[in-house]
Amino acid sequence: MIKSMGLIFVGLWPCDLEELITLPWSQGGCGVKNAPYLAKEKNLSVIDTVIDTLRKADYDEPGAPNVMIQSTDSSVLLKFKEKTKYELVYMIDEIVGDIDDSALSDIKTFAHSVVIKRGSVYLTNEFFLTASTKTVPKLKSSNLSVYVQTFHNEFVSQEWDFMSDPTEQINTFVQDAGINGVITGFPQTADRLYRRNRCLNLGNSTPNYMKPVGIGGLFQLIDKSSLPPAMAPIPSLIEANVTEPPLAPFSQISPSSSIGGAPGAQPPHNAQPKIAVCFTMSSLTLLLASLLL
Ligand SMILES: *[C@@H]1O[C@H](CO)[C@@H](O)[C@H](O)[C@H]1NC(C)=O
Ligand SMILES: *[C@@H]1O[C@H](CO)[C@@H](O)[C@H](O)[C@H]1NC(C)=O
Ligand SMILES: *[C@@H]1O[C@H](CO)[C@@H](O)[C@H](O)[C@H]1NC(C)=O
Repeated sequence: MIKSMGLIFVGLWPCDLEELITLPWSQGGCGVKNAPYLAKEKNLSVIDTVIDTLRKADYDEPGAPNVMIQSTDSSVLLKFKEKTKYELVYMIDEIVGDIDDSALSDIKTFAHSVVIKRGSVYLTNEFFLTASTKTVPKLKSSNLSVYVQTFHNEFVSQEWDFMSDPTEQINTFVQDAGINGVITGFPQTADRLYRRNRCLNLGNSTPNYMKPVGIGGLFQLIDKSSLPPAMAPIPSLIEANVTEPPLAPFSQISPSSSIGGAPGAQPPHNAQPKIAVCFTMSSLTLLLASLLL
């Protein structure tokens, strides 16, 4: 059966932790909501509070559902690394075409896996796939697991190459790019594809419709005179993007700073309220993110 797993998003903002434990974990659900009341009204370090909350609910015990801690901030993950054994997931929320070696070795010091955007895997132009980037091969060569966000069933969010077929899209990312998991708003689609599908792992007899699409194949068919203008190159992730100053205790952070967050203010990075549900499967990790946009 599906083993449920929690994905917890942690940023430098206080979280509504009541919700973290009242959400139905038995169904794989979990979430941390941006509600900047803890630091201001309760004067608590959000990281310690997340750790305590999970410990009280026995999520650090053997046999508990897997918990993944995700952050865009390396200093947050380093703190978790000091204090816990959860899987630590670094999220790169910008589109990057490559990762410098120094940035890679930095990431290795605080994360087990990385979440990247779909656009960091394949370059696109006018919704045509044009090429693969170096991002996934680089991460995989450092033994980091790669999860990709966000997959949707709606065809408007897909490149033409996938022929409006969400299973073809996920299949290409898994088989061609070799990613380790997807973050999707439609977990049944990936579940159907990878747990129940008998058309995979058939080797040479794999039916054509279960083969990944050829990257850039469709784009090459466009008549030269109608080609869209070439896209600017996508930047690499560099070490300076990854390194963060160490965390100051929350009591030293003024509530009006961008880190503490004024009431109702947008938190830094892409720290919107997030709800996530995750499953592990034999070959593919599937993380449902219903509010990840
Ligand atoms: C917040 O915590 C710090 C350190 O624990 C303490 O020095 C400070 O007095 C506390 N502030 C309030 C308002 O409780
Ligand atoms: C990745 O893991 C393999 C097998 O465990 C090991 O041989 C290799 O040295 C590792 N590579 C890096 C860059 O850590
Ligand atoms: C990395 O840092 C450079 C220089 O500060 C900046 O222009 C770029 O947007 C950053 N990239 C990412 C992915 O954060």
